[in-house]
Amino acid sequence: MADFFQNLNFSSANEDGQTELTALAGAKRILCLTGSGTRPLDMLFSDAEEVIAIDLNPAQNALLSLKVAAIERLSHADYLAFLGIAPSDTRLAVYDSLRDSLAPDVKGYWDSHRRILNSGVWYAGKWERLLRWNARFLRLFRGRAVGALMTAPTVADQAAVWQDRFTDSKIRRSIEMIGRDWIWRWVIREPAGEFLPPPAQVADRLASDFAHAAQTYLFRDSDFATLVFRGALDPGGAMPVHLRPEHYQRLRDSLPKLRIVQGGLTELDQLSLGVVDGFSLSDFGSYTGAEVYAACWRGILSVAGPGAGFCERIFMNDLDLPFREIRADADLSAKLTLTDNSIIYRIRAGQIDRVN
Ligand SMILES: C[S@@+](CC[C@H](N)C(=O)[O-])C[C@H]1O[C@@H](n2cnc3c(N)ncnc32)[C@H](O)[C@@H]1O
Repeated sequence: MADFFQNLNFSSANEDGQTELTALAGAKRILCLTGSGTRPLDMLFSDAEEVIAIDLNPAQNALLSLKVAAIERLSHADYLAFLGIAPSDTRLAVYDSLRDSLAPDVKGYWDSHRRILNSGVWYAGKWERLLRWNARFLRLFRGRAVGALMTAPTVADQAAVWQDRFTDSKIRRSIEMIGRDWIWRWVIREPAGEFLPPPAQVADRLASDFAHAAQTYLFRDSDFATLVFRGALDPGGAMPVHLRPEHYQRLRDSLPKLRIVQGGLTELDQLSLGVVDGFSLSDFGSYTGAEVYAACWRGILSVAGPGAGFCERIFMNDLDLPFREIRADADLSAKLTLTDNSIIYRIRAGQIDRVN
């Protein structure tokens, strides 16, 4: 488990970037967690003059640096093929054509992970591999039902398929497995398992999130839902904001606004980042108890400008905001939670009022 923050854990997208774009509209310097790189690349579609992507895990930053180099040089179709979203048998040759533009540490990382490059980095993360397994099981045991779900003509039809085919006791038992401590410790090998509620509560929450999502938007219009049910994206189907073909030129033009920084939220005061007025925080609280959570917010407060906005995702670990200055906007948070199409998160968005 110690190597979790060294390995590639996230490589595609499991968040709906439109939520953060709405929550942080108007911010001029946005700091976000790198993760798969999707969040910072999506944030290039904001009003920000600078987007700072920070991660404790050098592998996640190496992934974002590789994506940036590839976007600079490849057409949209070639980029999808390089990522592994569309077929290709020339990914290693493409990497060789990009590698001279990479910083030495990034080049070192990818030179020793050529197998991943060959299969495409989009599905290489721990979570993407788990979602692939999940989709294989679903195909095996509920193949027709998944087909019906993903091709339902309307949201009402989709909700009916969900109710009829995905709420029985077998599915419930499988969902409960997801909440078991030993699964996270020994199978998923993810430190977030330490901070989960009891299995029945995890299952209740996931069941209610999926039922709500099934009644709210078409799963095939959500890239994350497509990943959950199909294990892979359709190159002509739902894509994260930055990967949509009509956005690709703007993405390329915006790349100079992106800065990638190695480090943790707790040490933000030491990274010479200047003042930040927007924070896209993902679900960093999934990996912390209350004490480290507060230390992360202390780091955020140390660089926050007056009235800075924030957007946090909450998966299962419901921690209270630790300082009075950080004020959640209940209406905005509820609205964003309702419209976010990545199924499993509650959104907590608001403002940082005053910094000591
Ligand atoms: C919070 S995780 C959640 C995953 C996210 N849903 C995604 O798709 O990327 C996102 C990233 O935050 C990083 N991270 C977690 N806690 C952090 C911290 N305190 N400081 C900096 N990075 C952190 C992890 O290494 C991971 O790459």
